[in-house]
Amino acid sequence: MDDNQYILFNVENNIAVITFNRPKALNALNAPLLSEFARTLEKIADDESIRVLVLTGAGDKAFVAGADIKELAQCDALSGKRFSEAGHETISRLESLPIPVIAAVNGYALGGGSEIALACDFIYAAENAMFGLPEITLGLIPGFGGTQRLPRLIGSNRAKELIFTGRMISATEAENMGLANRVCPPEALMEETMKTASAIAVKGKLSLREAKQAINTGMDVDLATGCTLETNAFSLCMASIDAKEGTRAFLEKRKADFKGSYTS
Ligand code: CAA
Repeated sequence: MDDNQYILFNVENNIAVITFNRPKALNALNAPLLSEFARTLEKIADDESIRVLVLTGAGDKAFVAGADIKELAQCDALSGKRFSEAGHETISRLESLPIPVIAAVNGYALGGGSEIALACDFIYAAENAMFGLPEITLGLIPGFGGTQRLPRLIGSNRAKELIFTGRMISATEAENMGLANRVCPPEALMEETMKTASAIAVKGKLSLREAKQAINTGMDVDLATGCTLETNAFSLCMASIDAKEGTRAFLEKRKADFKGSYTS
């Protein structure tokens, strides 16, 4: 967006890229950056042409080094609560975007930076990436969802160890824990991420949305309820012209051309 100071936003071939752009402070999340991020997510949600979102950080050192500690130092209980609520709202908006979101973690992803990555659908990491929830070192706890999303992803025992110690882990350790899907040389990170984003962007937008929603909602309910959610989502996909196009394209031995809509 033109008037952004701390967010770069670019759309090419139906893939949007948000770059957290405050490299002098390792892209730490100050209030203006967070509100620019929230506004950009709103814009993306309203843009039917965008099929995949990629998040990354400016510079070669950091994805996002967490909330801005200078701002945190000024908080009391009430403003701290507001800060955490605003962060949760933005990160929930990110998580519930109806399109796939990939975090391309190109350096430090600490505190709020890890929490943003955790709300993405999956993470690709550069070999020099470092993940961590170091809030305990500041006399705090994670405030943007880390105590909730990290245990769901890697198990409560591993999450507790990381949150209680504040220890940073390397990209390889993150991959071994199931936190990062892939580790790439730093210079190849964006290329690899964009390759996957492009492979996803040609799929049907409706079926991607339904698959994402079924997985996300299904993770929080029992298996039988999750399977019912899946059946309903499957049936909704069946009503789309994309399903007609995808099945017909297979039978006609050609590539499908998905429109992302229910009607032609
Ligand atoms: N907030 C504000 N400024 C930050 C910052 C942050 N989270 N992280 C780094 N910076 C700033 C530094 O103050 C420094 O600025 P100056 O040059 O003006 O001094 C600049 O970025 C470069 O940082 P360093 O000199 O510290 O770089 P380094 O390579 O020596 O260390 C680091 C890198 C290990 C990431 C270190 O900067 C660090 O530990 N940063 C803090 C990480 C952290 O604790 N994050 C959690 C924040 S709390 C949170 O996120 C709460 C929540 O859940 C929402």
